[in-house]
Amino acid sequence: MTDRVTIKEVAARDGLQAQSVEITLDQRRELIEALAKACVPELEIGSFVSPKAVPQMAGTDELARSLPKTGPKFSALAPNMKGYELARREGIDQIAIVLSATEQMNQNNIRKSLVDTFAMAGDILARAQDDDVEIHAYLAVAFECPYEGKVALSTVLEQVGELMRNKPARLVIADTIGAANPRDVKSMMSELVSQYGPQLLGCHFHDTRAMGLANVFAALDAGVRQFDSSAGGLGGCPFAPGAKGNVATEDVVMLCESSGLATGIDLEALLQGVECLTQMMGAQQGGRAHYWLTNNWQKIAN
Ligand code: COA
Ligand code: ZN
Repeated sequence: MTDRVTIKEVAARDGLQAQSVEITLDQRRELIEALAKACVPELEIGSFVSPKAVPQMAGTDELARSLPKTGPKFSALAPNMKGYELARREGIDQIAIVLSATEQMNQNNIRKSLVDTFAMAGDILARAQDDDVEIHAYLAVAFECPYEGKVALSTVLEQVGELMRNKPARLVIADTIGAANPRDVKSMMSELVSQYGPQLLGCHFHDTRAMGLANVFAALDAGVRQFDSSAGGLGGCPFAPGAKGNVATEDVVMLCESSGLATGIDLEALLQGVECLTQMMGAQQGGRAHYWLTNNWQKIAN
């Protein structure tokens, strides 16, 4: 087990994709710049999806053309081959693809059957091997689906097995609606780590039922060292009713660093990113540690 945790910052994609306030491209760019300054190792800038399906993500191509020249590894989400090609056209070489563990969630999210989606994922993964592109394959609603209820561990293990045959750079288990609990996380992730090793695995938790951070801890305990999180805890999926915010990056950083696991993230700069989100949303953003971080820690740190 290494003593380092890699965080993929997803506020600019998962954080913004379901918000109802109007957000301009300049604001999205400003957010990305602020988060890049916080030294997050990976940063998802947006998604190459149909603007009819997710209007909040329109213009990700333009955004991709004006990213900071240094800083994190920039990535984007693509729901299909067209999205993959659009992302590649802008030079993005770390791309997230999403398959849901259940038929209904998959249909609602990308309007395709699960069988067709696994076939499409195989095509994208094969293409990515030739293009030298890293694919992060997400298995959404891996614990519970808003339409079909609880997902059996055996289903997830089988689906992960199928995906792993096509060699993604990372397989991310996503608790899209925040319904997992630490015990289930520990058993699922321990099993996956024992089969595939920690390097190929990641976790993506939402905090709907206040178990986000506990689930991160359970996954850490199982050996997982790659996590998605969102500055300020903003997040949600337009096609998964009940999905609340992602686990907050500042909280995950606090958890990791206080447990002796380095993230490399500059907390003070990250709080500037959260402030940027507060301005964009017109409402205070921040994870569970936000009050302490801004009122106590900053005084100690300065
Ligand atoms: N980016 C931009 N436009 C796209 C696209 C992409 N990745 N994929 C398809 N389109 C366009 C097509 O060109 C077509 O445009 P037109 O109407 O001008 O001819 C239109 O979308 C419909 O294409 P089709 O292939 O029939 O798609 P669809 O209507 O079945 O929608 C998705 C499928 C995947 C494109 C759509 O459901 C989507 O973008 N979902 C995003 C889901 C998401 O982001 N979820 C949250 C994150 S997990
Ligand atoms: Zn999510």
